[in-house]
Amino acid sequence: MDAAAWDTKYAAAELLWSVGPNRFVAEECAPLTPGTAVDLAAGEGRNALWLASLGWRVTAVDFSGVAIARGSALPGADAVTWVVDDATTWRPPSRVDLVVAAYLQLPTPDLAAAVDTAVDALAPGGTLVWVAHDRSNVEHGVGGPRDPAVLPTATELAAELSAAGRRLGAEVEVRRAERVERPTDGGTALDCLVVAGRLS
Ligand SMILES: C[S@@+](CC[C@H](N)C(=O)[O-])C[C@H]1O[C@@H](n2cnc3c(N)ncnc32)[C@H](O)[C@@H]1O
Repeated sequence: MDAAAWDTKYAAAELLWSVGPNRFVAEECAPLTPGTAVDLAAGEGRNALWLASLGWRVTAVDFSGVAIARGSALPGADAVTWVVDDATTWRPPSRVDLVVAAYLQLPTPDLAAAVDTAVDALAPGGTLVWVAHDRSNVEHGVGGPRDPAVLPTATELAAELSAAGRRLGAEVEVRRAERVERPTDGGTALDCLVVAGRLS
């Protein structure tokens, strides 16, 4: 889906996603010491707003102007920097301690470009948390896109991160790469979760 299609989707709903953070983002980020962060493809900013409430200085980036306008009007939004831009090409003004990407479902080669953005945005010592609908969700889970071309596996995502590290001359250490289950009202959704550190 392009930015215009996402704008239409957001405009049709009062609030498209949940108010609180994604459970895996929360689990992985809660133990970290707050610093600077980027929420890539932030949507209405549920993860960015939660991080900001913990003291992170967050930039929320999404190519949907409607989503960013909505997020920037939510309670607590003043603590977040809101940017309308494309995750495959955008670069932050300076590197950050944490990059979060949740449900940015892109086909190759756009996925590789977005992973480059994420790895390039990280300062050495920084952490990347990437959660996505898993490919197996089509057959065995609920919700999310049904096109396998935009559904990675944890192994593929981890390989993309390592490849981005090689392209960018960054040492990337994959610390967690697995399929995870997310209970929803309609049944269990299958996600993939990759957590990585940029060492240099
Ligand atoms: C499923 S929503 C997830 C939003 C948010 N991360 C969350 O978890 O609530 C996917 C988001 O990705 C954004 N998106 C898709 N492709 C993008 C791109 N190339 N650059 C920036 N945002 C993109 C869409 O506008 C949409 O807001």
